[in-house]
Amino acid sequence: MEADLRMWLKQVEELGQLKRVEGADWNLELGCLTNLNAKNRKGPALLFDKIKDHKEGFRVLTCSSSSPERLSITLNLPQGLSDLEMQKALWQKLIKCEEELDKYSTVTVKSGPILENIKSGDDVDVLELPAPKWHALDGGRFIGTADAVVTQDPDNGEINVGTYRMMVHDKKTIGLFFAPGQHGFLHCSKYHAKNEPAPVAISYGHHPLLFSVACIEFPPGSEYDYVGALREAPVKVIKEELTGLPIPADSEIVVVGYVPPNKFKDEGPFGEWPGYYGSGIRPARYVEVKRIYHRNNPILLGSPPNHPPSDASYQKEMVRGALLCHDLTKMGVPDIRGVQVSEVGARQLVVISIKQRYAGHAKQAAILLSQNRLTAVQGRYVIVVDEDIDPTNIQEVLWALCTRSDPEKDIDIIRRAPSSSLDPIIRRPTDHFFNSRAIIDACKPYEWFNEFPQEIKISPELEKRVKEKFGSQLGL
Ligand SMILES: Cc1cc2nc3c(=O)[nH]c(=O)nc-3n(C[C@H](O)[C@H](O)[C@H](O)COP(=O)(O)O)c2cc1C
Repeated sequence: MEADLRMWLKQVEELGQLKRVEGADWNLELGCLTNLNAKNRKGPALLFDKIKDHKEGFRVLTCSSSSPERLSITLNLPQGLSDLEMQKALWQKLIKCEEELDKYSTVTVKSGPILENIKSGDDVDVLELPAPKWHALDGGRFIGTADAVVTQDPDNGEINVGTYRMMVHDKKTIGLFFAPGQHGFLHCSKYHAKNEPAPVAISYGHHPLLFSVACIEFPPGSEYDYVGALREAPVKVIKEELTGLPIPADSEIVVVGYVPPNKFKDEGPFGEWPGYYGSGIRPARYVEVKRIYHRNNPILLGSPPNHPPSDASYQKEMVRGALLCHDLTKMGVPDIRGVQVSEVGARQLVVISIKQRYAGHAKQAAILLSQNRLTAVQGRYVIVVDEDIDPTNIQEVLWALCTRSDPEKDIDIIRRAPSSSLDPIIRRPTDHFFNSRAIIDACKPYEWFNEFPQEIKISPELEKRVKEKFGSQLGL
């Protein structure tokens, strides 16, 4: 499956999952509509056109993968799967992708739709693009929320693609906020250590799969290859003329420039994924824009964070869950049924379901899950449940928590774990963002598992019989 954003839109429209909205204001209206729509799992993708103060045809797409149907299209998975089935299918796919990654390295081409319009010098004007001000207290218009920021390690040539928020300062300057340790941050820091500007190329509109991969902690240098492997067709890239960085040939919008060393501009506040303006205003790096490429009638992909459920919370839960099943299995945790990086818990509640095989299995799973590369930063609670509990069903999880755990012996606290400047529970001012973790064993106690009281269950035969007899009458 080789597909650009426009082919993705066609597929989604055929499923009746796309709505066009005309006349919205970039100033809060677009963000408000996106957030209201994202609360509804059945809500469509929204394609905004005739945006106030902007040229007709310069569009914004939001809620790209906030329904199971659209996420399945994005991830190249079959339709009609439950959340747990989708996680399992993606997990199996990730195993295959890892084995075949080399087969899907990028292919460099000479031209592509992204070269339809090229603007440099005085023609560079980022404000021409319809970047929204998403939330009431945002410090500006954020052009980068579902972006793919391409950077290179100057030492070994590794190419990274990551999603980092980007606030427009003026027509030639865009803020770039990296959390320390992010791969884009590490690449830029290496240039800055030599007092050199760091080249960057940012795609602001692309197939949603590139966003799904760029915004999750895939191994550094592997993002383009994972996109290729997941869709089973390598990503076509063009070697960008100024920076030499590989940009997607079918991207809608690419901005290129340099991040100067030792220079910062105030950035924020921004409505962040925990549901607060946690990190406020602080100095952040920025890009001096040298060139803008865009397709005719370009589409900017947007994904404003908010109280969950928000634009990207569902896809992050699903992709992170599958990656964690894969990672923990590789670390030697057997018999995982599934993992939920809880959407309602703003990713700070992680649930794993296992078939307990040996004494301590549950604790091992919990500790590794709490300190995994995908969950270590700003996690909060980890719950382990037995395999009869669907980890993606929060009602079942809470029932297990309340009936199979005893706080006095089943909760352990890990102190001084890594958090971040987005964590609302850390009191400012501080430079040290630690938090603690509660790991909760909500499995039936291993040593008397077989003596645990019998659960009330309805047999499948009885259920079938009564549904046949009374189902239509009672709407069952
Ligand atoms: C909508 C959205 C906005 C994000 N903004 C930022 C950001 O501003 N800074 C950051 O460091 N990470 C941000 N992230 C998280 C990163 O995209 C994620 O950690 C990713 O793995 C980073 O790529 P890397 O692992 O290649 O560094 C954001 C994620 C999403 C979904």
